[in-house]
Amino acid sequence: APPPLVDRFGRVHTDLRVSLTDRCNLRCTYCMPAEGLPWLGRAGLLGDDEVVRLVRIAVERLGVRSVRLTGGEPLLRRGLAGLVGRIAPLGAELSLTTNGIGLARAAAGLAAAGLGRVNVSLDTLRPERFAAITRRDRIGDVLAGLAAARTAGLGPVKVNAVPVRGVNDDEIVELVEFAVGHGYRMRFIESMPLDAQGAWDRSAMVTAAEVLAALGERFDLVPVGRSGNAPAEEWRIAGTDAVVGVIASVTRPFCGGCDRVRLTADGQLRACLFATEESDLRALLRGGADDAAIEAAWRAAVAGKGPGHAVGSAEFVRPDRPMSAIGG
Ligand code: GTP
Ligand code: 5AD
Ligand code: SF4
Repeated sequence: APPPLVDRFGRVHTDLRVSLTDRCNLRCTYCMPAEGLPWLGRAGLLGDDEVVRLVRIAVERLGVRSVRLTGGEPLLRRGLAGLVGRIAPLGAELSLTTNGIGLARAAAGLAAAGLGRVNVSLDTLRPERFAAITRRDRIGDVLAGLAAARTAGLGPVKVNAVPVRGVNDDEIVELVEFAVGHGYRMRFIESMPLDAQGAWDRSAMVTAAEVLAALGERFDLVPVGRSGNAPAEEWRIAGTDAVVGVIASVTRPFCGGCDRVRLTADGQLRACLFATEESDLRALLRGGADDAAIEAAWRAAVAGKGPGHAVGSAEFVRPDRPMSAIGG
């Protein structure tokens, strides 16, 4: 095994999130403005060969064992199944985070290409509310995508929701009942100050404690803990196999166990979701660097990783890129 990708706090990084595009076909109000964003141009994006090379270096030389494809909306990437078919044989676990639009058509092909599992975002079960939150009337596509993912064996399928006060926070129990009924794992995410508009409001954020209080009214929850260093803390609904989770980035940060690095669609390495610095791996790739040079730049970037985010404190600095351009 290669020497671990370790930072100055001793955290070992085995998980890589790769954003394949910054574009999205939804316009979630907590994420980006109605008009969208100035998207990256085609020439700026890493091509498939470049993505495959970086993932190979991560797996072969840096000890990465788990790769998650993100966006924007990764299903918008042309030739995605082909790319999955080239990444899967590299040997890491391979997963995808999607809004579910287009998943109904893509799921079987992605599974056949070697994708392991998917996480799908769904904030509400009510069509009008879905249209208000995402600014697109497409809940049917997401529900069909979820079902197709399960049928294709892309599981356990997880459903991600961001509860927002006064918007969908009355649906926490219903979302869990829906997920349990269909065999999905429901997770609730505290909203983070990573929206493009800079409109994040702490008081609109529904905390993990509030989510758990709402769930506690309806279910008997047995703590399961975290799987490894995962952001999600999980509970089992007593007497069933159903699991629900919360991702409490703000009120219960998990940076101390962080094992993640991120690659943006334009080939910038980010040691943290909230990093204010990036390493330009694209420039190295396009400048003819060999694998050893890329490995060295990667290790140096992780060595300089900060202890974690400072959301909520006076020191907090918003990163230059919004969540949609980092991949979450
Ligand atoms: P699993 O492997 O299935 O647990 O996936 P995941 O929860 O790690 O990934 P997913 O893409 O589904 O992300 C769910 C939420 O967790 C998103 O809002 C991400 O932004 C957030 N998230 C993922 N990794 C991190 C992280 O390292 N730090 C923080 N603060 N949030 C993260
Ligand atoms: N804070 C927390 N989660 C967010 N997501 C998008 N924007 C934010 C934010 N500002 C969620 C999406 C998706 C997951 C990948 O991240 O809704 O479920
Ligand atoms: Fe890791 Fe940064 Fe997320 Fe904290 S905020 S868990 S350090 S990526």
